[in-house]
Amino acid sequence: MPEIRIDATVNGRKVSKPAKPHQRLLDFLRDDLNLTGAKEGCGAGECGTCSVFIDGVLYKSCIVPVAKAQGRTVETVEALAKTGELSILQKAFHKSGASQCGYCIPGMVMAATAAMRANPFADREEIKERLGGNICRCTGYQKIFDAVELARDVQNGTLPMSALAEDQVDEGKYIGANVRRLDAPSKVSGALKYAGDMVMPGMLHLQVLRSPHPHALIESIDTSEAEAMEGVEGVITCADVPGEDGFGVFVHDQPVMARGKVRYVGEAVAAVAAEDVVTAKRALSKIKVVYKPLPAVFDAESAMQPGAPVIHDYASDNVTKHIPIRKGDIEQGFAESDLVVEQTYATQAIEHAYLEPEAGLAYVDPDGVMTVISPSQNITHHRHMLAKIIARPINKVRFIMSPVGGGFGGKEDMIYQGMLALMAVKTRRPVRLVFTREESMISTAKRHPSRTTLRMGLTRDGRIKAVSLKMICDGGAYGLSTEGVMRKAAILGAGPYNIPNLQVDTWGIYTNNTPSGAFRSFGALQTQFATESHLDICAERLGLDPFEIRRINAMRDGAQTHTRQQLKSVSYLRVLDAAEKASNWEKGAPVSRGDSRTDFARVGEGVRSPCSLGARFETNDKLEAAE
Ligand code: FES
Ligand code: FES
Repeated sequence: MPEIRIDATVNGRKVSKPAKPHQRLLDFLRDDLNLTGAKEGCGAGECGTCSVFIDGVLYKSCIVPVAKAQGRTVETVEALAKTGELSILQKAFHKSGASQCGYCIPGMVMAATAAMRANPFADREEIKERLGGNICRCTGYQKIFDAVELARDVQNGTLPMSALAEDQVDEGKYIGANVRRLDAPSKVSGALKYAGDMVMPGMLHLQVLRSPHPHALIESIDTSEAEAMEGVEGVITCADVPGEDGFGVFVHDQPVMARGKVRYVGEAVAAVAAEDVVTAKRALSKIKVVYKPLPAVFDAESAMQPGAPVIHDYASDNVTKHIPIRKGDIEQGFAESDLVVEQTYATQAIEHAYLEPEAGLAYVDPDGVMTVISPSQNITHHRHMLAKIIARPINKVRFIMSPVGGGFGGKEDMIYQGMLALMAVKTRRPVRLVFTREESMISTAKRHPSRTTLRMGLTRDGRIKAVSLKMICDGGAYGLSTEGVMRKAAILGAGPYNIPNLQVDTWGIYTNNTPSGAFRSFGALQTQFATESHLDICAERLGLDPFEIRRINAMRDGAQTHTRQQLKSVSYLRVLDAAEKASNWEKGAPVSRGDSRTDFARVGEGVRSPCSLGARFETNDKLEAAE
């Protein structure tokens, strides 16, 4: 492909460099000029992490062809703190704590700079509108808006420069004090290097061939044509694994690359390392894999039925993990109840969608130590698993945790680090892999989809006498964190309530879906969603206020949990009080709530109508009075 020459002014310097016509401006800035302040989050113009100025106008550089920079002036976030001194906006971000993982922050700073240039007096609503093209997945918007308002006021002289200074903290009194994040300056200036920003001399680029089938036997893999391609330095398959080929947080059931069988669409089958990403991608298309499709199962309850396709030979019933909890006598508890309510609740798979897609860099150092740099949330475990996979002693394996650009539990799994290590061993060169957004979505863990059937028996005055809770989760094709997720779902699912008779069962089930894994709240969310929804329904049936039914049953100081942990102090009642006050709750049973409220029904031009979600449950549950 013929090259083009780009003559532009980038961050105040004249640049004259060849570029490939297919390159985006983002590629040119990152790969050719080593300016990594602009990040790639989505690659599709949605998230704003790649924001730059072209002739003073804010653009998303991932959707701008490099040719558009010809003869133009381009500024990246690096230009804002060029002399090492942060801009007022960057200082305000630091002061306000407006950075969590930091991956969105360079783009946010650019968008905020554009907003202040367009209207130095913008109010909060206008600031929100002007930052609307940028996403923060860590949900840190409030602090970001606070930061922009602070910068605006300092810039306009409403506040002195000293408003940006660090708050004084009395010696040793850091708890509850406003202490600034140590890593914030590198986040707001774009200097912080995530794994995908790191480069090493002689570095190769890894790309992964993924399964198009949900369940199939691999009859053969022919990599010869790919290996013969110019620019290709190595091709690996499961045949290149010298040690124990299995990883997972609890059960080591996942091979680094599919071994004899694929179990979900997107599973890694082979990987190529080449001098550049384009060559590596081309080489993938030359690998010939012969599959023999097998019957697949995509629903956890179907996978539990006799005769369902078996995903792993070691688990013929497709059960990854079953966690039971037994306490008291539930049949007796139901018999003593005035009311028994049964309902089934479902939650869906959820994508983490952290802004930093998975990335890593591996190399063998001069002492023969395999070194992997990646945003791993579980590096000690990853290190031990990798040592077994590559058959090296643990002191010859090192993991370095790079900044995590959003994790939420999703980066607990060692999905791609094994491939990087194997390729570094094979090629004796540093190797880097940066996932695309699509690759991240197709191949990495989701929140476990669940179905929870809850049966609760209560007395007329709202006391819970018995609970039966059964949750079936789709764990997908591999175990990952399923065992721990099922455990947390079981232990915490019935909530902070005194329940004398309790029977809990949670099951994680293998299917041919994308593996499910850790996600914030780790299984407790699914079961507690069921329990809390159920309490609202029970309150409605008994004519009780939803807060009241919770107070009646709440654990108090000295309570014993369902798994017999003695609790010295329980803050739940204080939480309920605070939530009731903060929500401006209208007391009463759910049947009467919503329609009668006047305080949030300010309907008029420019005012959104009130949200009625959850204001009243329509139920068709089985409601039975006990004999
Ligand atoms: S908008 Fe460019 S990477 Fe998301
Ligand atoms: S701080 Fe915004 S995405 Fe993490």
